[in-house]
Amino acid sequence: MSLYARIAGTGGYLPEKVLTNQQIADSGVDTSDEWIMERTGIRQRCIAAEDETASSMGEQAAQQALAAANIAPEDLDLIIVATSAPDRIFPSTACLLQQRLGVRRCAAFDVQAACSGFVYALSIADQYIRAGGAQRVLVVGSEINSRLVDWTDRGTCILFGDGAGAMVLEASSAPGLLSTHIHSDGQFADLLYLPNPINGKNGCELPHIQMQGNEVFKVAVNTLGQIVDETLAANNLDQADIDWLVPHQANIRIIAATARKLKMPMERVVLTIEKQGNTSSASIPLAFNEAVRDGRIQRGQTVLLEAFGSGFAWGSALVRY
Ligand code: ACO
Repeated sequence: MSLYARIAGTGGYLPEKVLTNQQIADSGVDTSDEWIMERTGIRQRCIAAEDETASSMGEQAAQQALAAANIAPEDLDLIIVATSAPDRIFPSTACLLQQRLGVRRCAAFDVQAACSGFVYALSIADQYIRAGGAQRVLVVGSEINSRLVDWTDRGTCILFGDGAGAMVLEASSAPGLLSTHIHSDGQFADLLYLPNPINGKNGCELPHIQMQGNEVFKVAVNTLGQIVDETLAANNLDQADIDWLVPHQANIRIIAATARKLKMPMERVVLTIEKQGNTSSASIPLAFNEAVRDGRIQRGQTVLLEAFGSGFAWGSALVRY
């Protein structure tokens, strides 16, 4: 009998503080609400409080997902956290989350694939469950991008937000995750990166996100088109078989291009970008959780998740929810 990883529960957490485009413009950044909205689809984003961390926000999302799945933390076999803003370089944020959940012994580790981190983590969880190496896996994406951007750089500071999303996966005889697909191409590493201050040999690299936005944009649109084709072909499905698209929320124009590729009206695309901006690895589980909780995504439906980001690393997951 085949084993699948079924999504048993989802959760999300957004910090209380909201920062609008207008507030960014009012703070002296040379930009406007109209420009940001038109070029990105973002109106506002959430900003973590000083005492919040990737593990504290991840815990909020994880507790919700565990409650929805009706699974106790001590029943988890594996915890995977995707983050680019770990509480500490080591131990992993997953270990710190494990401590917060009050459980011991199960394996816990982080995955670093920037904005594609959640899809990467989901893919690893899927392989573990299919191979029989784990029965119940907690997958979390948690990010504090507000601490990674230069708040005077209008090319990046307008894009990002903070938040956490989670899924609990469990082994099941019925699908489940139908397939996952992950890729990367390190040739593009210099187009979008976050320097590590401990390696600042000349002391000149600021630990802020560095991005050549329009170059990233072009590759993202093409690559996401290809991953849609790859995912449909692998499952012998066509565009009409997809009920919902839950994309990484980087830019409304990138998302719209993927929807066009799927011949999918924007009403079938789960969008959080306007209110949350780009929450990197948290954006897919946050969007998925929102659409499950408001009743849009129903059990039995087919949902395509896709992401693209620094690396470049990209990927997709096809889910029968
Ligand atoms: N407000 C006003 N003007 C701006 C702003 C701003 N916030 N930012 C840039 N501009 C200006 C530029 O200076 C430029 O002016 P110029 O023509 O006088 O030189 C003009 O607007 C056009 O700039 P572009 O960079 O070409 O603008 P573009 O339409 O490409 O939008 C953006 C920029 C929003 C960054 C877009 O390129 C984008 O979304 N890129 C992809 C980001 C992405 O997907 N990242 C991957 C995920 S993130 C991760 O992995 C961590």
